[in-house]
Amino acid sequence: MSENHGPLHVQTPLRASDEPYDPQTLADLVRDAELIVARYPQKRSALLPLLHLIQSVDGYVTGRGVTFCAEQLDLTEAEVSGVATFYTQYKRHPNGEYTVGVCTNTLCAVMGGDLIWDTVSEHLGIGHDETTEDGKVTLERVECNAACDYAPVVMANWEFFDNQTPESTVRLVEDLRAGKDVTPTRGATSVCSFKQMSRVLAGFSDGRADEGVGAGPASLEGLRIASGEQTYTRTAPAPAPEASKEQQS
Ligand code: FES
Repeated sequence: MSENHGPLHVQTPLRASDEPYDPQTLADLVRDAELIVARYPQKRSALLPLLHLIQSVDGYVTGRGVTFCAEQLDLTEAEVSGVATFYTQYKRHPNGEYTVGVCTNTLCAVMGGDLIWDTVSEHLGIGHDETTEDGKVTLERVECNAACDYAPVVMANWEFFDNQTPESTVRLVEDLRAGKDVTPTRGATSVCSFKQMSRVLAGFSDGRADEGVGAGPASLEGLRIASGEQTYTRTAPAPAPEASKEQQS
């Protein structure tokens, strides 16, 4: 195990920021915030996408971003901070250009996710929610990505890299750091930056949602069985030798 494992959730306080947005950035933020708020019957419901919008500009939830959200939504800064510090997708310190999430939930862990985590953490010299010195990769342990049929799974800015190994994951992070093109296993054909991804999560489509194959053959197997296209055959495991002897006596 790497000695560089940080705490599971780094408790960086959200500080007020003395640095205001420049006029153009502020005007763009206000315009985008109005579009987001208009989608909801109540202003306050727009807080989650608005926090992603802040991350798309600042790279994390800054103090000035908290102030901006509070002003736009008629909330207190404490209310905004309470939400921003609850969800792990909101970053409390500058995030790398790529968030690389290694699933270490039960199935991925036993299929190799724990080994992937240890290897890539050791390789990069960083732990959970820490970023490489070049600012390229933030490493995260992530919970189930609903891709258990392709365990162990690694995500890069929420794009799928299925059936990974320690070697393939080290190659992935090194390619990302070197600025090489990487191709996810399913879905979009490339990986965008953390800021670009945050803008999509704020509700502004980049037109790539329908790129590539969403569900692979393993994900669709149950559907094919349910529709009668495929027959389900249960194969009982062979009894252990001792059990067979007991059964015979
Ligand atoms: S346990 Fe890893 S994707 Fe479900």
